[in-house]
Amino acid sequence: MAKLAAKAMAEDPRVTEAKRLLRETLRDHQAAFTGIRPPDPDLRAGYAETLARFAANRGAALHYPYLGSGMGRGALVELADGSVKYDFISGIGVHYMGHNHPSLLEAGVDAALGNTVMQGNLQQNTDSEELLGALLAAANRKGAKLAHGFLTSSGAMANENALKVIFQKRFPANRVLAFEHGFAGRTLALSQVTDKAAYRKGLPEMLAVDYVPFYDAARPAASTAEAVAALKEHLARHPGLHACMIFELIQGEGGGYLPGTPDFFRALMRILRTAEVTVLVDEIQTFGRTSEYFAFQHFGLDEFADVVTLGKLSQACATLIRAEYQPKPGLVSQTFTAPSVAIKSALVILEYMDKQGLLGAEGKIMRLGRRFTEKLADLARRRPDLAAGPFGMGGMIAFTPLGGDTDKVNRFLRNLFDAGVIGFIAGANPAKARFLLPVGGVEEADIDIVFPILERVLAESAGNDGAKDTGTGAAVPPVGPGKGKA
Ligand SMILES: Cc1ncc(COP(=O)(O)O)c(C=O)c1O
Repeated sequence: MAKLAAKAMAEDPRVTEAKRLLRETLRDHQAAFTGIRPPDPDLRAGYAETLARFAANRGAALHYPYLGSGMGRGALVELADGSVKYDFISGIGVHYMGHNHPSLLEAGVDAALGNTVMQGNLQQNTDSEELLGALLAAANRKGAKLAHGFLTSSGAMANENALKVIFQKRFPANRVLAFEHGFAGRTLALSQVTDKAAYRKGLPEMLAVDYVPFYDAARPAASTAEAVAALKEHLARHPGLHACMIFELIQGEGGGYLPGTPDFFRALMRILRTAEVTVLVDEIQTFGRTSEYFAFQHFGLDEFADVVTLGKLSQACATLIRAEYQPKPGLVSQTFTAPSVAIKSALVILEYMDKQGLLGAEGKIMRLGRRFTEKLADLARRRPDLAAGPFGMGGMIAFTPLGGDTDKVNRFLRNLFDAGVIGFIAGANPAKARFLLPVGGVEEADIDIVFPILERVLAESAGNDGAKDTGTGAAVPPVGPGKGKA
């Protein structure tokens, strides 16, 4: 049998040698990344001009003055002003392997050697088939029965496709159930599902959405009873008209990493089963951030997973469905589903999660989360004026800084950015600081380096640097060029 030209090229010794040289080059240049670095004074003026030009062209300034140079190592990333920062938000969950991971360099080379930049529904390569198969296998490994799926280009499109296949199956049901303070994306339809008025200001109402209160860890039984009552009331008010309920199992953007519990979710999902309302699990943010690939597996909800969406760290996004949700031809398609480099990178990341000990109760994801939350819990005990919480688990961690006033939290996060650590805001009343760890590129030692910086900036942001420490926490060193390793 003749060898495929693509395989022959991939195995060409010159390609092997080129990859070796690239890996070596990367390693040599990454050696310079030893810790946080302030901006280079010679680059400051040019950087400010670039930011101003970008702001003028965008019509708005960037949230942070962040423009990457394109280089980093692990959690450390270089900005175009020469500064190096700890990236603890990872592109809001995308840069899971940290910056310039060598295995992704190889995936990039393989993709660049491929014949096209983009793959789409009409023309795609074998790696698209491989990725969809790998995602379905990962989703079904604890008993879920997801039979089909389709790749897509964003989390919002994955959710949009999910809603479309569900509506088609459940026709004429035309309403959606969602949690209060949930976030599902920003398409026209999803901005109705996302429970934030500011994100749909001026938009026509496209979709009827009924909201159910989320789990409250401070009132487990009462909040479960309230959610069950609200769900039953909605179902009774619009009999047969709800197509699905969307579940964000750990509330992210809106909640600041609030997990529900298996009992809470089961109580609702059982009712939905009886009422023949689809369970749509939105794992755009939770995928790869708990003890399992999917949070529905972490919470043991496999039997209820009718439709599941995932994105962010998977690079290519996807909608996975049970067999009975297969849409009629023409309902779901796109010119391009994902760039080849995203598809190849996704395969590398999935294998890394499986082979490098990331999963499981004692896996790296949960260990990193424990290290971070233990420190935050200790801080909250010692300095309740500075911090409350923590919230979240595994690769998604949050806390309430400075009482949770949005302006104060944003100021703290900006100060933290200037000090060399990148986080992001979530929720409101109280607002939280959240962190999405670059799991494949960060170690517990990095958290140990970052934490004193976080604590010092918090104290400074509170304007009470001298306030008394009531515990035995580590001394807080000043922020300077760091000596930590990524
Ligand atoms: C739970 C959830 N769903 C959907 C989305 C939308 O994903 P994207 O921003 O890729 O469109 C997000 C993004 O933050 C999310 O957190």
